[in-house]
This record gives sequence, structure tokens and C-alpha cells, in this order.
Amino acid sequence: MIQNTIAIDGPAASGKSTAAEALAKRLDFLYFDTGVMYRAVTWAVLDQLGAVDDEDAVSQIARNIKIDVNPATVADGRPNDVLVNGRDITWEIRSAAVNAGVSPVSTYPQVRDAMTVQQRRIGVGGMVVMVGRDIGTVVMPDAEMKFFINASAEVRAQRRYKEVLERGLSERYEDILASILLRDQIDSSRTVAPLRPAADAIIIDSDHLTREEVVITLLDYWSKRDV
Ligand code: DC
Repeated sequence: MIQNTIAIDGPAASGKSTAAEALAKRLDFLYFDTGVMYRAVTWAVLDQLGAVDDEDAVSQIARNIKIDVNPATVADGRPNDVLVNGRDITWEIRSAAVNAGVSPVSTYPQVRDAMTVQQRRIGVGGMVVMVGRDIGTVVMPDAEMKFFINASAEVRAQRRYKEVLERGLSERYEDILASILLRDQIDSSRTVAPLRPAADAIIIDSDHLTREEVVITLLDYWSKRDV
């Protein structure tokens, strides 16, 4: 077991990233959102190739890409600065185009290998809350504590819709729901590292919990763990 490591997995827009960020802050751990890496690769692929279906070309980009996740330098609600080969793409990776391309990109085994190696390097250092789809099952199976945060597709779409409105963007609720359902389906059915809870994960249904209640629940489990 790797002490002081927390793995948090769950489907798109389940609130896992927000909860993980708050948990990391409370524990003074590093917050690391692995979805950002798959999104950064997808952004670079769309930028360079215009489409995500050439698996060999996508894998090559994933092997050579330089992704940096740094403390935020702009106070616009971002948790971090995300840079690809030195360029700030923090908000670009949240676009509808990246949302649509990221699940197919993350089914490619060589993309996953390249990302997993980097993620493990960060995980072995400990003092980390790592968030994704396969952290408890593949990236950090030795994490000290594993959570799987779930919520119904409708509640997740509502939350994402609210965020989109708050950022002053216009996307339809129905489109967000459809995109979430499609990503769930691709993320859960891929052959390599599919989205699923680890056998020893604590499963949290966040449908009827506020953000703060999710964080309190996680902290409660953490403080009562066997040490
Ligand atoms: O958490 P997110 O919505 O930012 O993740 C974007 C996509 O990245 C998600 O649809 C699947 C993929 N992903 C993954 O396959 N494995 C991870 N550990 C994290 C994300």
C-alpha cells in the first residue's frame, strides 16, 4: 500500500474533481486530475490532425506531448494552468469538441500507456488525491483509500449545464446529457482500463448530496481509516 494516496474515480461530471480538489486542500495533498491529461492530448490531436480517428497518429502525439499542470496564474475560476508544449489551453480543453473527442482518444491503449506512466510517477510520491476513471483499478491499485463517486446522468448533466451558464457559454441541456451518456458508454465499455469501481472502493452516490456534503463524507472516511 502507498501511504497517503487517495484514488477517486467516477463518471463524467459526477462532482469527483470538485470534491477531490477540496479534499486535497483540506489534507494539504497534491490534487491531480488525470482527465486533464486525456483532454490535453485530445486538444493537441484536434489542433494537429483535425480528427481523432487515426489511432497511430494519435498515439504518436500522446507519446511526444509535453503537458504541464501548474498552479493557476489567472484568477478566472481555473484550478490550475494547463499547458501543452508551453501553450495555455486551460479552457480550450473544456470545449464541446474536446468533450466529444476525449473518450475515443482515451480508448487507445498506447495513449493510456503513455499517460499511465506519467500518472504513476506522480502517485508514488504520496500526499496526493488523484482523480480519473481507472485510478483505483489500474494507475494506483495500491492507493491507501479509493472512492468511486457516482450520480445519475440527469443530475450530472444539470450540474454541467449550470457550470456552462455560469461561464457565460451557451450549450443546450439536452446536448450535454447526450454527450454525458455517450461518454459513459464509451468509458465503461472500452477493453483497456474501463470505468468501474475497484473491488475495495468506497462507493458514494452524490445525487442527493451537496458539494460540501460529498467532501465531508470523504473526509470522514479518511479520518476513520485504520492506521
Ligand atoms: O474527468 P474528465 O471528464 O475530465 O475526463 C475526460 C475523459 O478522459 C473521460 O471521458 C475519459 C478519459 N479519462 C480516462 O479514460 N481515464 C482517466 N484516468 C481520466 C479520464
